[in-house]
Amino acid sequence: SWTTGNVIEEQVAAIRAQVGDKRAICGLSGGVDSAVAAALVQKAIGSQLTCVYVDHGLMRKNETEQVEKDFVAATGANLKVVDAQERFLTALAGVSDPETKRKIIGREFIRVFEQAQLEILQEEGPEVAFLVQGTLYPDIVESGGGTGTANIKSHHNVGGLPEDLEFELVEPLRQLFKDEVRMVGQELGLPEEIVQRQPFPGPGLGIRIVGEVTKERLDLLREADAIAREELTAAGLDREIWQCPVVLLADVRSVGVQGDGRTYGHPIVLRPVSSEDAMTADWSRLPYDVLAKISTRITNEVADVNRVVLDVTSKPPGTIEWE
Ligand code: XMP
Repeated sequence: SWTTGNVIEEQVAAIRAQVGDKRAICGLSGGVDSAVAAALVQKAIGSQLTCVYVDHGLMRKNETEQVEKDFVAATGANLKVVDAQERFLTALAGVSDPETKRKIIGREFIRVFEQAQLEILQEEGPEVAFLVQGTLYPDIVESGGGTGTANIKSHHNVGGLPEDLEFELVEPLRQLFKDEVRMVGQELGLPEEIVQRQPFPGPGLGIRIVGEVTKERLDLLREADAIAREELTAAGLDREIWQCPVVLLADVRSVGVQGDGRTYGHPIVLRPVSSEDAMTADWSRLPYDVLAKISTRITNEVADVNRVVLDVTSKPPGTIEWE
């Protein structure tokens, strides 16, 4: 019968058989899937695994610390953190177009991750032959099945490595659905904040700033987002809503009055949605007192924000994210 204990036992045995005495690399995104996949592989092969976390500076408040401290404390995994914040900010400078932002973030991410892979290969030698991925059952069904290998082309000019490296994939979650992955993660002792995390886009806060992405704007949005999350959690609404993007309209200003002066600040948009699978969504009818608390706190505590607005659009026609 299906129990998380059985799944873990089976997968640990399978991973050991697959990897043998070779070594593996796993990229951590801060999300549930990569964390659970890494924890499973860690349980199976211990120090033969090296995890990589690319800090692109687009995460929400405390999320990087959750990976760096709590994930490592819970699993004992070897973690290589790459601080790429400056690199991403530089690449995003002057860019406002959503698709261009996504492309830049995706491209930089792959470059930084591949560079980290090459460094690990240089440090640990050719027995690094496996790449762990948190692929779930629905991902496999949607992409028409098939597993295999990942290629990394050595266009970085790091000496002493083959022209074209091939990693065999380890995908310990490929038979699982999301809720099962969370249960396995819980059983493996991962922190609640990681296991129960709501969906968060790969490009992070980069696509929640309407306008150019700058360090100041990211810091501002991180504060506003943290307040919204804190109040939603305090009100016990985390399970009820699918996710609640918090968006900074950096290209918009409106007039306000705060203290004894006129202000000319930015609006923050709250986008709470309920959904089954993110393909369609409805805006969540959050209690007014919760909305009031979030609004008061954000306008009081976050400099340069003088207005909080609620997005009451379903999907379609609106997407969940603003970009
Ligand atoms: P949209 O905005 O298309 O979002 O209604 C649907 C779901 O997907 C998430 N999302 C992303 N996730 N990389 C991701 O990993 C992305 O580029 C991305 N864009 C949107 C979004 O948060 C929502 O859950």
